[in-house]
Amino acid sequence: DEVMVSPLIRTTISDDRGDEPCYDGYPASELINKGYEIPHVIGLLWDKRLISKQEAEIIKRIMMLSADHGPCVSGAYATILAACAGIGLSQSVAAGMIMIGPRFGGAVTDAGRFFKYAVDSKMSVDEFLAYMKKNHGPVPGIGHRVKSLRNPDKRVKELVGYVKSLNIKTPCLDFALEVEKITSVKKDNLILNVDGTMAAVLVDIGFPVDSLNGFFILSRTIGLIGHWVDQKRQDSRLIRLFDYLVNYAAPKRREVPPLK
Ligand code: ACO
Ligand code: LMR
Repeated sequence: DEVMVSPLIRTTISDDRGDEPCYDGYPASELINKGYEIPHVIGLLWDKRLISKQEAEIIKRIMMLSADHGPCVSGAYATILAACAGIGLSQSVAAGMIMIGPRFGGAVTDAGRFFKYAVDSKMSVDEFLAYMKKNHGPVPGIGHRVKSLRNPDKRVKELVGYVKSLNIKTPCLDFALEVEKITSVKKDNLILNVDGTMAAVLVDIGFPVDSLNGFFILSRTIGLIGHWVDQKRQDSRLIRLFDYLVNYAAPKRREVPPLK
């Protein structure tokens, strides 16, 4: 007799029941042997789509440019702190990953969502900025702690230059660059940042908004693993913040009153 069981989960992206995994139906070995690369696997698993060579090249460049940005940024610093406390690789990387959010690295999805909304609803830059100020706050994808008009972010210039050299329509990127023109005049660090640039480009090549933070998370994981291995290799000691780096603003030591 057959027993009917209702499935616990439904998947639409991959199947491991044969002799090898299939990504959206395509066997991994066949993808390899026909010359497909990591960006194509991303396309299949994140958007169920066999992306073009040109789209794959864009994604490869995004990943290379955002793989790491030194030890001082929130993500790397958290991973280093954990590594020095003797925490293992996956947990230390997870510590760094937890820092990826609205201010650091995790503004890609929202940047893509809002730029797309502005383009779809044919807003002017002024209308967009007024809308963001009223409804959201800081414009995701705009602003950087150390990069500015005077200290430009070469990663952004590189990616914009490359995408602009291709024969493709880039309405979101064009809009984002118009936003930057206005915001960077108000304050010179309000430039289009890495999150905003990759968001605009990825929306322009058709990636779903919900997948966009994944591009930063994936790329920066390369760097976070590097920082953990680097600390391990050096046998680094536990980090303890020095007192002179802290502004102790708590009340001065005082007598505890009798318990009432
Ligand atoms: N849109 C509008 N105004 C902004 C923005 C923004 N995106 N960012 C900063 N400002 C304004 C602030 O309101 C503030 O104005 P005020 O001086 O009138 O109060 C001023 O600029 C300074 O703001 P801070 O938050 O002190 O600037 P900081 O240098 O700390 O901010 C940050 C850097 C966190 C990236 C900020 O620009 C931001 O939140 N941007 C949006 C989120 C984002 O895109 N993050 C990804 C950064 S790239 C990366 O992590 C790989
Ligand atoms: C990064 O790529 O980590 C940054 O743009 C953030 C920073 O502060 O450098």
